Amino acid sequence: MRTQIGIVGAGPAGLVLAHLLHLQGIESIVVESRSRKYIEERVRAGLLEQGTVDLLIATGVGERLKRECLTHHGIELRFNRRGHRIDFNDLTGGKTVTIYAQQEVIKDLVGARLEAGLPIIFEAEDVSVHDFDSGKNPSIRFRAAGQSEEIHCDYIAGCDGFHGICRPSIPAGVLTEFDREYPFGWLGILAQAPPSSDELVYTYSERGFALLTMRTRQISRLYLQVPFDEDINAWPDERIWNELRMRTAADGNWKLNEGNIFQKNIASMRSYVVEPMQYGKMFLAGDAAHIVPPTGAKGLNLAVADVRIMSKAFAEFYAIGKTQLLESYSATCLRRVWKAQRFSWWMTSMLHRFDTDNVFDQRRQIAELDYVTSSRAAMTTLAENYVGLPWD
Ligand code: APR
Ligand code: PHB
Repeated sequence: MRTQIGIVGAGPAGLVLAHLLHLQGIESIVVESRSRKYIEERVRAGLLEQGTVDLLIATGVGERLKRECLTHHGIELRFNRRGHRIDFNDLTGGKTVTIYAQQEVIKDLVGARLEAGLPIIFEAEDVSVHDFDSGKNPSIRFRAAGQSEEIHCDYIAGCDGFHGICRPSIPAGVLTEFDREYPFGWLGILAQAPPSSDELVYTYSERGFALLTMRTRQISRLYLQVPFDEDINAWPDERIWNELRMRTAADGNWKLNEGNIFQKNIASMRSYVVEPMQYGKMFLAGDAAHIVPPTGAKGLNLAVADVRIMSKAFAEFYAIGKTQLLESYSATCLRRVWKAQRFSWWMTSMLHRFDTDNVFDQRRQIAELDYVTSSRAAMTTLAENYVGLPWD
């Protein structure tokens, strides 16, 4: 097989890239190790920045999103049993964030690509990447339906996530890794319960962090900070609800809506960046190049920001034969990546309880929350990062 851009991975990075390239008349083939059913049902995050929503709508894959999403104009920070709203309308000139599950974005992108008769190879096995640094044209090898296949291409886009094969295929000594693991993770549930608040509630409590978010007006998405090595079997439903009630308790008549939990899992938490995000004729995007703690809801949005830059770089190459944007791809992406890392680390550090902290640190965290919710300047910095910094 032959194409212009070989894309490894059909997550948000790979699928948005393929879509943007197609709109610019650039051919690609997407190679995905999982089945279509698996990637369309995989429960991930669900908050989209304004820029991500605008891009999906502007490129023709946002019609269902427009119909089904929930648009939010603020969030609540809750501590000492009191809520404090961060008003995005007032602080960002009307920018919003949108709740629309990542798997719904995946369904829309897969549907659009297959409807256009464009290739996604699902359930590819033993995927490997070759000659991206040899001066020859690179290729992607894999097995599908028991047959060995090879895609010859001009460039490879490594969009295969943190556990993919593209980043590890770059020779030793080329990459520098920047990594911070946190001593806790998030226990996440989906429950058949109407959301207990109109907007997201981030809570700081002596017992640990909790987040109240949602998927629809009937489905709640809730998270609890738990130790990094926690066993999900130690968390029966009643214990989850009891802990959520304690951590989100507030003065007044607010109460937590409870219901049947139909999905639960524990996800670890880390901050990770690899530099550079490119080597030879292979370009990394999304979780293949960086991981953020979910507190700032940046994961999917960073993936989209990366491939927006990558698609412009490929468009320049194929249109006028120049490679300036390709050569500066990594540096351009990393400016946004590191700002998102800082924000995600800051939100995580402000809202989570660390075992290594003492009573001084806990007072300091409360003081930071008090400052952020009482200073317009501090609220503005949170709001402008949360809705998404402007794209360069
Ligand atoms: N060969 C082919 N495909 C692979 C391989 C491989 N060796 N390894 C992984 N994949 C696929 C995965 O099955 C997945 O569908 O690559 C895709 C990577 O998608 P994501 O992990 O979602 O990464 P990305 O597209 O960068 O999106 C980042 O997704 O995981 C969330 O929280 C993360 O919101 C963030 C977003
Ligand atoms: C979610 O809705 O899954 C979500 C929202 C905001 C976050 C993390 C996750 O910070």
